[in-house]
Amino acid sequence: MCGIVGYIGNDNAIDIVINGLENLEYRGYDSSGIAFLDEGNIDVVKCVGRINNLKEKLSKEYKNFFSNIGIGHTRWATHGVPSDVNSHPHLSMNGKFAVVHNGIIENYLKLKEELEKLGFTFKSETDTEVVSNLLEKLDDGDFLNTVFKMKKTVEGSFAFGILKKDTNELIATRKESPLVVGISDSGFYVASDIIAILKYTRDIIYLENGDLIHFKDNSYTIYDKNDKIVNRELKHINWSVETATKDGFDHFMLKEIFEQPKAIKETLLRRLDEDNNLNLDGLEDLLDSDLKRFNKCYVVACGTAFHAGLVGKNILEKAFNFPVILDIASEFRYADNFLDENTLLIIISQSGETADTLAALREAKRKGAKVLSITNVVGSSIARESDNVFYTFAGPEIAVASTKAYTTQLVSIYMIALKIGRILNNISKSEYDEIIENLKLIPDKIQLMLKDTQIYKSIAKKLKDKSNCFYLGRGLDYYTAMESALKLKEISYVYTESFAAGELKHGPIALIEDGTIVFVIATQRKLYEKVISNIKEVKARGAKVFEITQFDDSNCVCDVKILIPKTIEILMPIISVIASQLIAYYASLAKGNDVDKPRNLAKSVTVE
Ligand code: F6R
Repeated sequence: MCGIVGYIGNDNAIDIVINGLENLEYRGYDSSGIAFLDEGNIDVVKCVGRINNLKEKLSKEYKNFFSNIGIGHTRWATHGVPSDVNSHPHLSMNGKFAVVHNGIIENYLKLKEELEKLGFTFKSETDTEVVSNLLEKLDDGDFLNTVFKMKKTVEGSFAFGILKKDTNELIATRKESPLVVGISDSGFYVASDIIAILKYTRDIIYLENGDLIHFKDNSYTIYDKNDKIVNRELKHINWSVETATKDGFDHFMLKEIFEQPKAIKETLLRRLDEDNNLNLDGLEDLLDSDLKRFNKCYVVACGTAFHAGLVGKNILEKAFNFPVILDIASEFRYADNFLDENTLLIIISQSGETADTLAALREAKRKGAKVLSITNVVGSSIARESDNVFYTFAGPEIAVASTKAYTTQLVSIYMIALKIGRILNNISKSEYDEIIENLKLIPDKIQLMLKDTQIYKSIAKKLKDKSNCFYLGRGLDYYTAMESALKLKEISYVYTESFAAGELKHGPIALIEDGTIVFVIATQRKLYEKVISNIKEVKARGAKVFEITQFDDSNCVCDVKILIPKTIEILMPIISVIASQLIAYYASLAKGNDVDKPRNLAKSVTVE
């Protein structure tokens, strides 16, 4: 996910584009840049880091500079690490075209090869620079026609903003990636999200898939996906700036919970071909090497990412056919472990910057272990220092409480384990096919769950005045209980503990008293009867039990049953956690807490 902004009109495009980018920083923030016309030439200013860096650079190099036309970009790296050269806009070799892009050009490698044969050279690792050079190659003197031709050549998803040297025209076009147009008395605006232009106008056109808009001579023309002129309705919107940033959601956390179907699809489908083969980009050399040499596998992470590792342990053990050891990074790095060149260390980290996790990685590398990291942030320290990186493609996660990063981490571990399991022949083809087929159905199942959140709101009301509560589970459900308890405590501040249900009678049951709220996660058939017994034990001591389950058996002994969609049991953790994310969210809301920024916490823990 990246953000783009463009402007053409009577005002200063530089100010408008920069202001727009600041509002789009939530879509990506590893680098940013701007291009504008300067006496016919295209000037580009771009740099790695937050938009403040770009503002500083501009204020040094272009203080009080005016241009009536410009495009800008804030980046969330997908192709190539965050760096000055990989930042957008990208100029064509002859400097005639500048492009900002949100999306992924799937045939960029093929196009790049063709362009290289024609003598084009590339400064960056991005798919976007291929597009600017493609425009140069296709240039027939007619800006609009050249862009039409480019649009027909590229495959994948895109929202483009394009400038041409000596041409006071702006062209923008979209396929799959979002792009809105704003109209005001003083000019025209394009942006990935309304929030970027709300300050200037509330008259908006939503471009449809495949549309292209051409701004020229104080006017604009829209073309549909077949390059035919079309009219698109101009809508007046009343959104507040605050609402718009969050796509209409009240909080980033809720937005991110609702983004999970899309994020999971992104993580999974781009690696899966129509024959269900997994192509795990970034892991090629690891998978091609002798996997049999590994006789140990550690999974190391912190917090939510650690819980993802716990869920993954089971399938990783199947894949390797030996025990897999889980550890939290802050402990692992000081432990006397048995790391050597026959060890695979799997690091999981949303931010890729967590200090303890990074230190564990370095320690393992020092001892010769092979490091594979699963992270969401391209070019992060953990990504850079690992031998192999697998990206989760969840998009920026802004809320402190991790949601979409967690479920995409789970999907990533399943994919990696399935691939390794097939290579080592420890997972059968039929088992592989069954898991893949069911993974593909997960996004729709989550979507279904998100349609009706009423039950979670009513549970939250009951939790609101409680000072403590518990999550119980067995097997995989125990790990989901751990993640659920973390989610609830960190944003609702209700003291929440998780227990393996079988451990209750060894101590924790002493905590149960009249009215104690106990959530029980029960999705594993072979453990179900045992869990029912645990429910009876706590109920007998006065607990109020909420059961999160896929089984609609009538012999329910709980007080409230939360029925969730069914899938194969090994994948249930991806679905059951959605229920506890929603419980945590609505409980925090009911208590009037700052949901996205809970007290004492930070999104990225870069201190030890
Ligand atoms: C909880 C949460 C944290 C993080 C932990 C690791 O919702 O977000 O527990 O999971 O701080 O962070 P990363 O994954 O960035 O290494």
